[in-house]
Amino acid sequence: MVKRNLILAFESSCDETSVAVIEDGHRVLSNIVATQIASHQRFGGVVPEVASRHHIEQITKCTKEALEQAGVSYQDLTAVAVTYGPGLVGSLLIGVTAAKTIAWAHQLPLVPVNHMAGHLYAARFVSDFTYPMLGLLVSGGHTELVYMKEEHDYQIIGETRDDAAGEAYDKVGRVMGINYPAGKTVDQWAAKGHDTFNFPRAMEKEDNFDFSFSGLKSAFINTVHNADQRGEVLDKYDLAASFQQSVVDVLVAKTIWALDEFPVKQLILAGGVAANQGLRKQLSAGLQAKHPEVQLLQAPLKYCGDNAAMIGAAGYVNYLHGDRADGSLNAVPGLSFAHLKEEN
Ligand code: KG4
Ligand code: ZN
Repeated sequence: MVKRNLILAFESSCDETSVAVIEDGHRVLSNIVATQIASHQRFGGVVPEVASRHHIEQITKCTKEALEQAGVSYQDLTAVAVTYGPGLVGSLLIGVTAAKTIAWAHQLPLVPVNHMAGHLYAARFVSDFTYPMLGLLVSGGHTELVYMKEEHDYQIIGETRDDAAGEAYDKVGRVMGINYPAGKTVDQWAAKGHDTFNFPRAMEKEDNFDFSFSGLKSAFINTVHNADQRGEVLDKYDLAASFQQSVVDVLVAKTIWALDEFPVKQLILAGGVAANQGLRKQLSAGLQAKHPEVQLLQAPLKYCGDNAAMIGAAGYVNYLHGDRADGSLNAVPGLSFAHLKEEN
């Protein structure tokens, strides 16, 4: 009988507990995601202790469900992959411990995965990858441009100097009374308004691929507070549209510029904020106009947020490249792409 290539993958870096089974690195047989958003909403953000507790409660159930839905058992598996960073240490440890235990109990290879590489591999569910490629990673914790010269090779060429794009969305959303996480609602409001406030476009013209969103966030908050003090009511749709346009203009300008400097075949748009409709539209229009030779791979909406399917896809590549961990694997909250190379 031909042995199947089945990866059991774990993701628990923030507030989603997720377990998936992936075949041949790109077929999702199951992807169970237990979200904890409701428990964090009243605090306006993720509370690490609450997150860890939820992960503990959910991880065994999710594992059982992922295997059942995929119709496979531990004996069928090729390897176990797990996110070991970046993320919240207490949250990461739950996934890492579960993966280690299963790998040890069933004598399976244990494959460590960088969460950000996972986000990039969400695009693997729409197409094969052709190198060199560039990734625009926009999430609640990160905003970065990643150059991949070849498979398994990640180089950060630009990143945020302060807030991540998603973090800025969540903060301005909070000011407008939107529950955490606010990105999706701000995006929906933006579609109904116009860019009338003309907020700053930070670092748009600077000679690097870095981003900054804290100035925009402060400009937004000041505008709302000043209006409050004057007793004025601002149009929430125009506020959202103005904020979003500022974020999207900078993300698209820098990405297009990075493509001028780093010729690639494909561009990946991934991470939670990649679900943003304004960003999707403007990036694909910008690409058509300036780099029609580059194929845009947008991660499917259901794999933009944190999930284990993407970890399984990235994990399969790591597995083929021989990345292995053992019982000493630890969570690395500040994990960077250079980590594995540094270790070798
Ligand atoms: O990648 P993700 O699920 O978690 C992290 O690894 O951070 O990203 C979550 C972030 C949140 O900040 C959320 O507000 C944002 O993604 N987000 C969006 C949209 N949907 C989710 N931001 C803008 N527009 C959206 N449609
Ligand atoms: Zn993420």
